[in-house]
Amino acid sequence: MTCIKLCHCITAPSNPIHPRGYRMATEMFLLVLLAMASSLAMASDPSQLQDFCVADKDSKVLVNGFVCKDPMVVKADDFSLSGLDMPGDTGNKFGFNVTQANVNQIPGLNTLGISMVRIDYVPKGLNPPHTHPRATEILTVIEGQLLVGFVTSNTDNRLFTKMLKKGDVFVFPQGLIHFQFNPGYTNTFAIGALSSQNPGTITIADAVFGSNPPISDEILAKAFQVDKKLIDWLQAEMATEMFLLALLAMASSLAMASDPSQLQDFCVADKDSKVLVNGFVCKDPMVVKADDFSLSGLDMPGDTGNKFGFNVTQANVNQIPGLNTLGISMVRIDYVPKGLNPPHTHPRATEILTVIEGQLLVGFVTSNTDNRLFTKMLNKGDVFVFPQGLIHFQFNPGYTNTFAIGALSSQNPGTITIADAVFGSNPPISDEILAKAFQEGKQSLRLCQKASYPASRWQATRLPMAAKILLIALLALASSHALASDPSPLQDFCVADMDSKVRVNGFVCKDPTVVKAEDFFSTGLDKAGDTGKKLGSNVTAVNVNKIVGLNTLGISMVRIDYAPKGLNAPHTHPRATEILTVIEGQLFVGFVTSNSDNGNRLFTKMLKKGDVFVFPQGLIHFQFNPGYTNTVAIGALSSQNPGTITIADAVFGSKPPISDDILAKAFQVDKKTIDLLQAQF
Ligand SMILES: *[C@@H]1O[C@H](CO)[C@@H](O)[C@H](O)[C@H]1NC(C)=O
Ligand SMILES: *[C@@H]1O[C@H](CO)[C@@H](O)[C@H](O)[C@H]1NC(C)=O
Ligand SMILES: *[C@@H]1O[C@H](CO)[C@@H](O)[C@H](O)[C@H]1NC(C)=O
Repeated sequence: MTCIKLCHCITAPSNPIHPRGYRMATEMFLLVLLAMASSLAMASDPSQLQDFCVADKDSKVLVNGFVCKDPMVVKADDFSLSGLDMPGDTGNKFGFNVTQANVNQIPGLNTLGISMVRIDYVPKGLNPPHTHPRATEILTVIEGQLLVGFVTSNTDNRLFTKMLKKGDVFVFPQGLIHFQFNPGYTNTFAIGALSSQNPGTITIADAVFGSNPPISDEILAKAFQVDKKLIDWLQAEMATEMFLLALLAMASSLAMASDPSQLQDFCVADKDSKVLVNGFVCKDPMVVKADDFSLSGLDMPGDTGNKFGFNVTQANVNQIPGLNTLGISMVRIDYVPKGLNPPHTHPRATEILTVIEGQLLVGFVTSNTDNRLFTKMLNKGDVFVFPQGLIHFQFNPGYTNTFAIGALSSQNPGTITIADAVFGSNPPISDEILAKAFQEGKQSLRLCQKASYPASRWQATRLPMAAKILLIALLALASSHALASDPSPLQDFCVADMDSKVRVNGFVCKDPTVVKAEDFFSTGLDKAGDTGKKLGSNVTAVNVNKIVGLNTLGISMVRIDYAPKGLNAPHTHPRATEILTVIEGQLFVGFVTSNSDNGNRLFTKMLKKGDVFVFPQGLIHFQFNPGYTNTVAIGALSSQNPGTITIADAVFGSKPPISDDILAKAFQVDKKTIDLLQAQF
């Protein structure tokens, strides 16, 4: 059994343990495993229903997670934490320490489904076998080395181990028992990310041998098939040996335990398969190796010799096939002095970033109609959260290189760099549409397009890859569907109580006995909105704010009117896919895919009356009426509160404005052009 190898790697217990002694017939361990299995079934954090829902720790109201603070008193500090550059105190019996950065330390993480840890290990230090009932973990070794392992659930109970060095990355699938051990002679330090705002930890030895009150030693002796004296000794010592015991017990025989859940431990991506599914099909589990959960090289800076002076090194499902279906990934980002990660969004993920070296000015902009800019200067050890789908950036204002480790709440978060997607799509978005969207002469926009994107780049990348790109787009569409849904309702309906002062993710429910048909009803979608403003379009939204019965139901509707030459300017919905039907007139529509080696592909189509078109979640899209008559369309969105981020407004019109230094660098034009654009909003 693979476990034996592990036992040799770690100092063997003074009382040699006979493998034969650990045949298991244990209700106790079944309980632990059942707890594990059921947490697997109810695994994911709720999807957020607004840009953010910062935890209000002072509220007495108990909900799933925390109730929300009043958004008007939310500050950048709510998304931030300092001190992850400082080692925790490892002076405990295991010689390790976990420093948490979850919703308890960063209230802005509430409803966002991600968190971070710093873990320190002295030489021979052990993070003993434990599970996170609500999260997958992805760990990067920053200094030192680490022997890591996890055990699959019954009936196989296979142990996967790997020796990691500086820069290596490893994945621990959700709910599985895992451990880390520093076999070296120097301290080890790792940064981990977990796919829950509050992942929870169940330390097996504590749960089994250190419960309060203790599980009777008779039961434990029977469970582990050892004599009571050894159990008493274990309970007294709480020593490293107990983890070996627990692991051996786990790994030996659990044949009689039946897992009630059909969920698998992992689904390692089979990149060779021709079958296309949401994400990737699974490799045969019997050929899965520890290497499938691992990646090396995150200690090496990426090449920052590009015009922005930054580089993102990815550790997502494309590099680590074991991440498939696990909903998390990691990045290393390097910035030269004055280096900029230009404004971008991740259509499928929240991001949490820790500065390892140097300093970083970070910011994000909320969706319409506020477009508030939150910025903060980060130093080494500081942590910051960028809520899902919102436009954000990072800038190194210092004179030394900066290096940060980020985690994202998707196996394939996608990135949409605003400047690339808007001004550099392939083929380009027509300058008539852009000039209207940015309320600026075509001249300065051509400047933006030219400055950022020399024709040679696009000729080089204009490959006959239409089919492949379409598949990528469809995959993106499919996977965003999987990750997109609003929280499932837990009752027939939960009609929003707009009078309640309690703020939760979405709205609290009205007393069902006073719910009326009117709560599910709205009228007036036969009336055109006023298209008299400068863009010549008007969106009439019918979301949870209009039909309170939509609360928790994950869908909403819009009517959009377009005057002749009217434009619904480039925008994204951070929390929804949109499907649009043309009722009258015609419409030129388009969306731009997220960043890829083939650039940002633009898909456009001319629609006429009765045509239907889909805009995948989080992707930048627009609609333009090229005709001489009014156009009317009805759309549906896969969220009760999809949010809208109009690119021009969010980027050039945020309050306060994003500095023109940053925008000039992002769009590769001079500050005068940026000031001109900002003056329009
Ligand atoms: C971890 O480190 C912190 C800060 O040094 C300390 O307060 C805490 O007690 C330590 N935890 C353990 C389990 O040793
Ligand atoms: C980032 O760095 C890698 C490795 O050094 C390099 O191959 C890649 O081209 C760089 N990307 C950019 C956008 O500069
Ligand atoms: C959309 O139309 C409504 C109703 O005619 C009007 O009140 C609103 O101001 C219009 N919005 C815009 C952005 O023009």
